[in-house]
Amino acid sequence: MLFPEGVSVDGRTGEVSPATDRYTKTLADLRGFFRDSAKLDEMVATQGEVPVYEVIGYRKAESDLSFGTTIMSPGKVGDEYFMTRGHFHVRRDRGEVYYTQSGEGLLLLESRDGDTRVVEMKPGICAFIPPDWAHRSINTGPEKLVFTWFCATDAGHEYGEIQERGMRKLVVDRGGEPFVAANPNFAER
Ligand SMILES: [Fe+2]
Repeated sequence: MLFPEGVSVDGRTGEVSPATDRYTKTLADLRGFFRDSAKLDEMVATQGEVPVYEVIGYRKAESDLSFGTTIMSPGKVGDEYFMTRGHFHVRRDRGEVYYTQSGEGLLLLESRDGDTRVVEMKPGICAFIPPDWAHRSINTGPEKLVFTWFCATDAGHEYGEIQERGMRKLVVDRGGEPFVAANPNFAER
């Protein structure tokens, strides 16, 4: 049986307490996701383990709802900002909500039929992610980007498709400002 609980979510550090699970993705884990793979290899060789993002969850298998935080480091691979892998949900009828608490970024979304949308991520913005839109968070600022996500526990993560073909757009630093550009490596399946 589940019991109610107050969970502390620190909007600055992203710490969740109590948490049920956490993982970190480093630059080396994100091989294949950034446009400039030679640059990524060089960064891994010279800088070692660079954490790009950490996910801290509060998930109870018996509950329909889960939540947690994602804490994204600032940084770039070449001119492409640090980002998450990006995923669809395995269950196509499950959406999600991202509430940004600190930092600034962009949420890049893509529908199954190739429509692209961008939602600004900044404190106070609650992003609605409809079911069956792939989503990727991008830290375009100089500080950590911290957001809290709320999702159905059974949504599931499907990373393969985005990993294989990329997203149609990518976000690069152009003269100090984020710019949404066409992804030259996007492979239509
Ligand atoms: Fe998701």
